[in-house]
Amino acid sequence: MTTPDTTPIVVEGVGYEYDSGLSRHHVLRDVSLEIRAGEIVILTGPSGSGKTTLITLIGALRAMQSGSIRVFGSELLKASQAARMRARRHIGFIFQQHNLLDYLSVAQNISMSLSLGQGLSGAGARKRIEEVLDQVGLLAHIDKYPDALSGGQKQRVGIARALANGPRMILADEPTASLDRESGRNVVNLIQTLCREQGASVVMVTHDNRILDVADRILHLEDGQIQSISAAVASSTSQMLKLLNRHDPQAARYMSAFSQALTRVALADGSLDDPERDAIKAILVEHSDMQQAEVDLVMELALSQVMCRSTPAAGAEPLFSPQQRERFISSLHAVAAADGEVSEQELQEIDLIARELGFDTATAGG
Ligand SMILES: Nc1ncnc2c1ncn2[C@@H]1O[C@H](COP(=O)(O)OP(=O)(O)OP(=O)(O)O)[C@@H](O)[C@H]1O
Ligand SMILES: [Mg+2]
Repeated sequence: MTTPDTTPIVVEGVGYEYDSGLSRHHVLRDVSLEIRAGEIVILTGPSGSGKTTLITLIGALRAMQSGSIRVFGSELLKASQAARMRARRHIGFIFQQHNLLDYLSVAQNISMSLSLGQGLSGAGARKRIEEVLDQVGLLAHIDKYPDALSGGQKQRVGIARALANGPRMILADEPTASLDRESGRNVVNLIQTLCREQGASVVMVTHDNRILDVADRILHLEDGQIQSISAAVASSTSQMLKLLNRHDPQAARYMSAFSQALTRVALADGSLDDPERDAIKAILVEHSDMQQAEVDLVMELALSQVMCRSTPAAGAEPLFSPQQRERFISSLHAVAAADGEVSEQELQEIDLIARELGFDTATAGG
C-alpha cells in the first residue's frame, strides 16, 4: 500500500523478538522514530541492544513482527517478498564488512547492485560504475579484484556500490568498524558528502564516538527502546572519559586541567563568546589526539564545572535558595561521614566549597 508521505521513514511501535529454543528474547519493544529527508542520523547503543535488528527491519531485509514501518510511504508490516524488494530499491546498504564478492572485479561487484535496481545494461551501466568509482576516488581500480585493495578501499567500493542506484536512503551498519582511525574518518566524511550532494538520508549504526560529529541527530538504543538524546550523550561521554582515563590517566588529568584552565580564563570577564569557544577548541585539538567531537564534550564538561565554581558577582541574585543551600551543605557532610568517620581534611574541603560558592560560612558548619 502506498500513501503520499513526505517523511522517508516512519517507525511506530515496533517490537521484535527472537525465538531461541525454549525462551523468547525480546529485542525491540515499542520503538518509534522518524527519519526525515536529507538527515544524517547516528544510531548508538551497547552491543546486543538491537541496532542491527532495527536497521535490517527498516531496510526490509527482515520480516517485521509487530508495529508499523513505512518506507517512502510503503508499509512493511505483512508486506510480501516482492513489496519488500521494491522498498529496497530506494535504499543503499553499507555493512561492517564490505561484503564484496572476491571472485568478481570491482566493476562487477557494483554492477550486481545495479542489476537489482534500475536494470541498466551495457554502456549505461559501465558509465554509472565509472561515475560512482570516481566519486569515491577509485576509478583507477575499476578492474581490480577485492584482494588487491586495502580495507579502506574495499569499504569505499562498498559505498560506491550502495550509491550506484542513486538511493534516497543509506543504511550503514558499523561502516568504520574494520578500519583504522584515518580510513574510518575518510569513509564517514565520504558518506556525509555524497549523501548531502544526492539529498539522501543516512542512518548509521556506530560504536565509534569519534564520528558522532557528522550526525544531525543521535538516537540511542538501550533495553529495546530509543532513549533520549541526553541519555545518549551522557552514555557516550562517560564511556569516552572512562576509556581515556583507563587508557592514559596522565593524559586524562592533563586534558581535564587544561580545558578547565582555558575555560576559566575565557569566563573571567563574565561571558564565554563564540571566538573564545573556537580558540579553546583549536588549542585542545592541537594539544591532544582527541577529535573535534571529543573536545566538544570535554570542553562542555569543563565549562559546567567552571561556571558553578565562579564566584557570584556582588549584588547578584544568590546562586541557591536558603533551602537548597542547607541541603547542599548537609549532603556534603553526609558524604564525608559515609565511610564511618569525618576527617579534618573533609571538613576543610566543605568549608572551602562553601566559600567558593559564596555561602555564609557560619551556616556551613553543619
Ligand atoms: N538470529 C538470531 N537468533 C536469536 N537471537 C538473535 C539473533 N540475532 C540476534 N539475536 C539477539 O538479539 C539481540 C540483538 O542483536 P543485534 O544484532 O540486533 O544487536 P546489535 O545492537 O546490532 O549488537 P552489536 O553492537 O554487537 O552489533 C542480541 O541479544 C542477539 O543475541
Ligand atoms: Mg550489530
